[in-house]
Amino acid sequence: MRAHEAGWAHAVESARGPAWLRPPDDANALVAPLWSSTARKVEGVLEVGGVAVTDLVAEHGSPAYVLDEADFRRRARAFRDAFDAYDVYYAGKAFLCTTVARWIVEEGLRLDICTGGELAVAERAGVPPELLGFHGNNKSVAELTRAVELGVGRIIVDSFHEIQRLAEITEVAGRTTRVMIRVTAGVEAHTHEYIATAHEDQKFGFSISSGDALAAAQLIHEVPGLELLGLHSHIGSQIFDSSGFEVAARRVLALHAQISDEVGVVLPELDLGGGFGIAYTTQDDPSDPAQLAIELTKIVTEECKARDLAVPRLSIEPGRAIVGPAMCTVYEVGTVKAVELDGGAVRTYVSVDGGMSDNIRTALYDADYSCTLASRTSDAPLLLTRVVGKHCEAGDIVVKDEFLPGDLVPGDLLAVPATGAYCRSMSSNYNHVLRPPVVAVNDGASRVLVRRETEDDLLRLDLGPGDRMED
Ligand code: LLP
Repeated sequence: MRAHEAGWAHAVESARGPAWLRPPDDANALVAPLWSSTARKVEGVLEVGGVAVTDLVAEHGSPAYVLDEADFRRRARAFRDAFDAYDVYYAGKAFLCTTVARWIVEEGLRLDICTGGELAVAERAGVPPELLGFHGNNKSVAELTRAVELGVGRIIVDSFHEIQRLAEITEVAGRTTRVMIRVTAGVEAHTHEYIATAHEDQKFGFSISSGDALAAAQLIHEVPGLELLGLHSHIGSQIFDSSGFEVAARRVLALHAQISDEVGVVLPELDLGGGFGIAYTTQDDPSDPAQLAIELTKIVTEECKARDLAVPRLSIEPGRAIVGPAMCTVYEVGTVKAVELDGGAVRTYVSVDGGMSDNIRTALYDADYSCTLASRTSDAPLLLTRVVGKHCEAGDIVVKDEFLPGDLVPGDLLAVPATGAYCRSMSSNYNHVLRPPVVAVNDGASRVLVRRETEDDLLRLDLGPGDRMED
């Protein structure tokens, strides 16, 4: 470490970070749109669900994922209410445990699963199988057999091999299974733009333009054990702009009409997928569910009208938009370093007790997050800070850029908002780091939903060398 002779805060003026990043007006307050609805700061201490994170860490340790139950339920209900004429499937891949599966059912939603493992969680939670939608581009025979035998509400078929497998499984089981066809509409939506036509080159679904999707509909129609409910289109994730949905809906409804004309089946349903964006930083400005419902319904209704089609029963599959903002991660600071950048500016590296094993999104997608000091107030000048983890890897970054008080010391707690989606669910044991617990908070009480891993958990799978090492 090289210290600047005038002190390590000296050249910070020139280290402004990315153009969008602004120092918060008040570092002792929260930037409310990034946090769950019960989050607030009381004399510098972050409180979620009426529980101070200092108390939460004293009881459950650090790091911890903190899930705001009231906020999660409120977001689930907001989708349920805004999309009252739709079926709303919560995408469990964003985050799933048995308690959350139960909350989803209690709030009137259904559940999108995509593996046997997620199915096992749904079963253990007691989710009625008819409320499940089963996705996946390579469901195994065992997974499909279990889904058919359980009576899963719908299986979203993704390949000709899968149609063949389901034909055999339903025949042996003597059961009929309801299916949808996952189609590739040739639209891949990104945060602020969508790219039409170029993105058929991916593993999911049947291409509309090649004729595969129509052929799949014909084939399914001929299988006695399969009932074709409709088409399914999911165009991407963390989307803010409805124009991608519009292009996709136009193409999917054209196929919907073609299936009615050429296969002779009027499909009763249509699924528009998930992907609704959330705010990770002040750059993001997501729509609320009510606005999304108006936009999506208008797109489908107008397209159906233009084609003289009855509007099918619609469904959506939000994951991130329900659980993402409902969770934050609390970490403890372990070390603080000042690193001089080119031009003399200084970046503060703050190492916390987690990292890429509990949030891989920064390393994997170059995702932006924000961060706040969560255990006390500070009036120290704000410094451009990078929050990094404890892993043996330079790319182990939790928050690339944030302005944090310049007096951080080991033992301070930091909290990162909007970590509910695809953080715990994509977590790993890299470097044999133990995964943090998921602690639900509500009305002043905390409850562990998923406990912290222990070294015994890690070693349970390691069957050992089978002999003793000789001295
Ligand atoms: N439906 C289908 C068929 C999906 O494939 C997905 C997400 C969803 C719904 C839910 O999308 P959401 O509303 O959560 O955006 N790991 C990435 C995201 C992968 C999304 C995969 N599919 C991330 O961390 O950003």
